[in-house]
Amino acid sequence: METISDATKGFVDLRRHMWMAGVEMELRRLIWQIAVTGKYISAKIHDSNRKFAGFKNIYGEEQLTLDRSSDEILQSQLKFSGFVREYASEEQDSIIHIGKGSEKYFVTADPLDGSSLVDTNLAIGTIIGIHDGSILGERKSDLVAAMYITYGPLITMVYSTGKGTHEFVLNREGEYVLSEDNITLSERGSIYGLGGLRKDFTPEHLKFVEYLESEGYKLRYSGGFVPDINQVLIKKGGIFSYPALKGNPEGKLRLIFELQPMAFIMKHAGGMATNGKEDILSIKPNSLDQRSPIYIGSRFEVKKAKEFLNKS
Ligand code: F6P
Ligand code: MN
Repeated sequence: METISDATKGFVDLRRHMWMAGVEMELRRLIWQIAVTGKYISAKIHDSNRKFAGFKNIYGEEQLTLDRSSDEILQSQLKFSGFVREYASEEQDSIIHIGKGSEKYFVTADPLDGSSLVDTNLAIGTIIGIHDGSILGERKSDLVAAMYITYGPLITMVYSTGKGTHEFVLNREGEYVLSEDNITLSERGSIYGLGGLRKDFTPEHLKFVEYLESEGYKLRYSGGFVPDINQVLIKKGGIFSYPALKGNPEGKLRLIFELQPMAFIMKHAGGMATNGKEDILSIKPNSLDQRSPIYIGSRFEVKKAKEFLNKS
């Protein structure tokens, strides 16, 4: 790939970056279409004026929740792209056949992750997985690409097609321009973020948390999966976990929609993700809403978590 100097970074837009990286044409167009959809979702978030659940507009009409309208926007954009055979979303119970049957890609989405944070004006996001085989059942391969969009003070987009992980910022002209090429996590970081209540932690997980605290890791947790993962990625290390909890051994987060796309992105930035035993990317999901505990981030901390969880 052509070298990108610091001076030219801000002029390398998403399409050019993917072309330079040799991403095949249909996948390039699909990723670009999804990134553009992020602008429409962002416009919806603005229009909602931070009201979230089923509120009434000035005419007294019931509005769709932001999660559902983001899902509708995504579904219609993906259908329009012409490259997607099936779509599965956290907002729907079953896989939707949106193509004619010959399209190459199968897309999963968490259309608006962290939507309960909208009223507090914290960052929220969209998570996408792109497969070249069916979403459930025997897959031809793992994910071929994954991306997420962060709606924060800036709108950013991170993607990977397996050739590194890269971050783009939406500029004033409405273009996604490269802000960080080939993000690489250090072996060990200095921050951690944990979901779940401490009183519900398993003894093994609690020991791991005490280890992180004793080593001086700083707590950085917003309660939104996308910004919490984004923080570890952009700070180039550390760990995020939503663990198995007492009475809830599968944790909270969803394998297909949330965990596997983020694990793919982290892996191609030199990080790792595990459920405590198995690599998150090697788990074959049996149902759309399958959940799993997760430990994700730089290699040292993820391996350490595994050690603590498997001590007998
Ligand atoms: O999508 C689920 C989600 O909102 C994530 O963004 C976040 O990591 C998690 O739930 C937080 O859950 P809770 O506040 O219930 O622990
Ligand atoms: Mn979510």
